[in-house]
Amino acid sequence: MNQIEQFKKLKTEVTRFMMMYQFALNELETKIEILKEEFQFLHDYNPIEHTKSRVKSLESIMNKISRKGVPFSLDDIKLRIKDIAGLRITCSFIADIYQIRDMLKNQFELKVLEEKDYIENPKPNGYRSLHLVVEVPVVMSDGRENVCVEIQIRTIAMDFWASLEHKIFYKYNQSVPAGLLLELKEASDSANRLDLQMERLNREIAVIKETQSEDQLEDFTQLFLGNRQFRLPESLRELGKENESE
Ligand code: GTP
Ligand code: MG
Repeated sequence: MNQIEQFKKLKTEVTRFMMMYQFALNELETKIEILKEEFQFLHDYNPIEHTKSRVKSLESIMNKISRKGVPFSLDDIKLRIKDIAGLRITCSFIADIYQIRDMLKNQFELKVLEEKDYIENPKPNGYRSLHLVVEVPVVMSDGRENVCVEIQIRTIAMDFWASLEHKIFYKYNQSVPAGLLLELKEASDSANRLDLQMERLNREIAVIKETQSEDQLEDFTQLFLGNRQFRLPESLRELGKENESE
């Protein structure tokens, strides 16, 4: 094989490799869309605010494998780099995060390989999120591949904090002044307090809504059984009498 042919072959392999991750994300996003619509239908509530996905650029993959000392082969990269495909799910309340995690775990085609709970155990800088690494089956023309996707699930407040922290981290070329680090940690605690407060409010509202709908149900029952005497239709009462005489 001459050099041009070799290069063409490599290019095709790499392109297919990257496509596989995009397909895995497409599969996963469809699954999540279905869960979301079903949940909305059953519970009249949507736990997912929005989702965002990305496939890591070839450049970032190269940087990561050289940092981690991963050999330059597609098989090794697939085995060792678990965040080539990434999906971020943002929701309103902390409880939603675990509900979404459970819904994903109950999908029989998905296999959860890894779970890191940075909500229960935040990073020292204040980073909070739930991370999952899942395996998504992708069917291509030459067979089936299990593809890893990193899923980050977080609240809007956690996402707000993480995106700012990320910007600051890169602005200061990864060596952020101590004062700023301290303030970021404090901001993370405030974001967490906001999450807890919102969650409590949401629970209170849910109780009010429940009592309201119970009251409505009672009004409705009163209307039918209380105010108006509930009477069997004439034809049925006649039928009842016939049976009595037998
Ligand atoms: P690598 O995947 O090798 O980087 O390490 P890891 O698997 O231990 O990483 P981890 O699962 O802790 O985090 C992976 C991703 O989570 C990162 O690529 C970020 O998107 C996000 N993340 C983790 N820590 C932080 C943080 O301190 N700040 C922000 N903004 N994002 C973070
Ligand atoms: Mg990772």
